[in-house]
Amino acid sequence: MICLGIETSCDETSVGVWRSGELVQDVVYSQIPMHSVFGGVVPELASREHLRQLDSLVQILLRDTGVDIQAVDVVAVTRGPGLLGALLVGIAYAKSLAIALGIPLVAVNHLHAHLLACEFEAPIEYPALGVLVSGGHTHIYLMRDALDFELVGRTLDDAAGEAFDKIAKLLNLPYPGGKYVDILANHGVAEPRLFTRPYLNNLNCDFSFSGLKTAVAQYIETHAIPQVDYAKFHVEAVPQDVRNLCASVNLTIVQTLLEKTRRALEMHSTVQTLCVAGGVAANSMVRREFSRFASDRGLKFLVPSQNYCGDNGAMIAYLGQEIAARGYVSPLDFEAIPRGKHVPTDYIVNPFSRSE
Ligand code: KG4
Ligand code: ZN
Repeated sequence: MICLGIETSCDETSVGVWRSGELVQDVVYSQIPMHSVFGGVVPELASREHLRQLDSLVQILLRDTGVDIQAVDVVAVTRGPGLLGALLVGIAYAKSLAIALGIPLVAVNHLHAHLLACEFEAPIEYPALGVLVSGGHTHIYLMRDALDFELVGRTLDDAAGEAFDKIAKLLNLPYPGGKYVDILANHGVAEPRLFTRPYLNNLNCDFSFSGLKTAVAQYIETHAIPQVDYAKFHVEAVPQDVRNLCASVNLTIVQTLLEKTRRALEMHSTVQTLCVAGGVAANSMVRREFSRFASDRGLKFLVPSQNYCGDNGAMIAYLGQEIAARGYVSPLDFEAIPRGKHVPTDYIVNPFSRSE
């Protein structure tokens, strides 16, 4: 089976292709340079840029892989959650392509696709615990199968990546700032008790990171922490105070994620694999500490390679082929699901295979 995956949920336009259970290739066009001028994603500009780039990316992918468009068996597309206008561009394109080729379409949950990108490394042994840490979401799932996810914990306000980005903005670091906090943290010394690990004084697996941003803002003000010169970002040029602050912030976020993961595991003791995915899974301390955490508990640990932590069409194609291989597709009238709304699992039995 050849599955073409299309991703346009936020600020990366990306397409990928899987053939017979192997990733052939993917192409990512990042809009970050455009949005960084505004210090964040501008939804309308994101939609317009997806519209401008998407078809060219598909053509590049087909040319570079030698895959004939007529040989594609199924189209997969991100249904949500994401920016509504951005999603609509990818979905309209995918629906048109599926109709033109006379092939089925599979609408994919972006968050589940992030976690299943762990399978690019090795098979997930189920049940698994999935920690999805991205710019828009911080979710813990019990994963019983590629198509059976139960939400165990979620953020009540800011996502982990959003916390990184907002704190980076307070320091005038480039956008998106998570990567820069990570780099600086590796050149700083953390003070473990500088910031309270947020929202631990309860029994649940949910998160709340918005208070951490306020605490850091107050610390910056009361300690006269200097602002980094954005245009000249270079680790050596960043004052030690700022590097140490980044190390403390990084530690606080990672320890909070670990503590809630520990609780989720206590509730689900049959778990075999710990999966960590999403943009924040690229963080060096997240990778190191979660790996140690899993090995201390005898769990298989999976995290995508750095390339596949962020948004990519390969993960959409992967989940699309998994769904199609089980005989399911999406009806053509499905809607895009914006951020904050539940993505329904309303697949139908593949009518194409029924008529064969
Ligand atoms: O998954 P993703 O590419 O997009 C969403 O679906 O949200 O995640 C982007 C997020 C941003 O907040 C970015 O700052 C964060 O991932 N991020 C990092 C690192 N690399 C990317 N956060 C911390 N450390 C990193 N190394
Ligand atoms: Zn994402």
